[in-house]
Amino acid sequence: MFASNVYIERRKRLISDIGSGLILFLGNELSPMNYPDNQYPFRQDSSFLYFFGLNCPGLAAVIDTDQGAECVFGDDLTVDDIIWMGPQPLLKEKCQAVGISETAPLDQLQPLLDRAVDQDRQIHFLPQYRPENVLKIQELLDIHQTVIPDHVSEPLIRAVVAQRSFKSDEEIAQIEAALDMSYEMQTTAMKMSKPGVCEREVAAAMEQIVLARDGRLSFPTIFSIHGETLHNHYHGNIMSAGDIAVNDSGAETPLGYASDITRTIPVSGKFSQRQKEIYAIVFESQTTAIEASKPGVEVRDVHRLASEVLVSGLKDLGLVKGDVSQAVEAGVHTLFFQCGLGHMMGLDVHDMEGLGEDYVGYTDTIKRNPEFGWRSLRLGKALEPGFVITVEPGLYFIPELIDRWKAERKNIQFVSYDAVEKYKDFGGIRIEDDILVTEDGPRMLGGPIPRTIDEVEAMSS
Ligand code: GLY
Repeated sequence: MFASNVYIERRKRLISDIGSGLILFLGNELSPMNYPDNQYPFRQDSSFLYFFGLNCPGLAAVIDTDQGAECVFGDDLTVDDIIWMGPQPLLKEKCQAVGISETAPLDQLQPLLDRAVDQDRQIHFLPQYRPENVLKIQELLDIHQTVIPDHVSEPLIRAVVAQRSFKSDEEIAQIEAALDMSYEMQTTAMKMSKPGVCEREVAAAMEQIVLARDGRLSFPTIFSIHGETLHNHYHGNIMSAGDIAVNDSGAETPLGYASDITRTIPVSGKFSQRQKEIYAIVFESQTTAIEASKPGVEVRDVHRLASEVLVSGLKDLGLVKGDVSQAVEAGVHTLFFQCGLGHMMGLDVHDMEGLGEDYVGYTDTIKRNPEFGWRSLRLGKALEPGFVITVEPGLYFIPELIDRWKAERKNIQFVSYDAVEKYKDFGGIRIEDDILVTEDGPRMLGGPIPRTIDEVEAMSS
């Protein structure tokens, strides 16, 4: 964990931002896989980690903003627990390390909240994404689970987003530690991706890299020769000469910080001419988008710019015709680029998505565009120094989508369907990096991972 002062200062600011009432944070529990004692690896809630740094199950915390008091609720291990799990520091000892002096057994949480409700005090809590914590809120606050979303605290969401959006130096160091693992993952995948190798061998090698470094995956690995499927988690294909494999993968440090990198790998070691042409378009789109990612610039404008570069490149190849900006205005890019340009990244790979994407990526005046493609843009608002974002344009040739648009004669004035038809077996290409927005402009985080055609081919051969 970070020095105790980091957590103390974060909570101090939260108290000042919220101003009155109690703040209730629920930590996560162990989740059973197939029977109660066989559990998924524990993952603490990211906001709990951010404000309390305590990475163990069975905890809750209450901050009384009127009194400036903080208490963590949890039970120490019994001897019966210790027999199976070994000895662990007492809760009090763990809490001292994050600047909390008051702890209490879990069964004291309910009476404390009951007293607050009796006194008509406001109890702020965040949106819940785990069923067991939904049930806890239902029981602790007597709010039926179906209406809990109506009772979450918007001021608390906004206050948490206001802090977590801006990464401190120690957080950047963590993200760069995750990116060191990404370097190993990506370069290993480049070296291993050969004809005859099964995708799951590469996915397994990448997971081995993070586990051996006391990390874990920051999200389930996307590694596939069918990169046209945006989130393809099937790893059962045997790679063949001429295939390209999209490797969208990430690591998480022991403190919970993520990396998220995508490279597209030629299985033969060399891209074909046609693959090079599409790769070069995506590369130019990404480079242009990264250069544009400066403070004050709205990401929805960067997304449009990246889309224009994609459409312009496709026009040069004869897949698109007409005026490029009019084509993007008409949504032509979404036939080939169906998702958003990127998202914030930090303690969650899609940072704070559990708090509500629109609180993180949009504002009261910059609203999400509900149209196909645009609606998947998680981050649209203006960039500020301290934001860490991904920049991940791609070109995806999805046969079913092409067939549908062609049958509907959609955007027929802009799309040369006969030419597009020839790419239905192409797959997809995505290139993604993690960027820190600074006063001086964008900074690509981590050591350089092969990205140009020459660099990727050299590592893959
Ligand atoms: N890299 C996976 C995602 O952004 O969803």
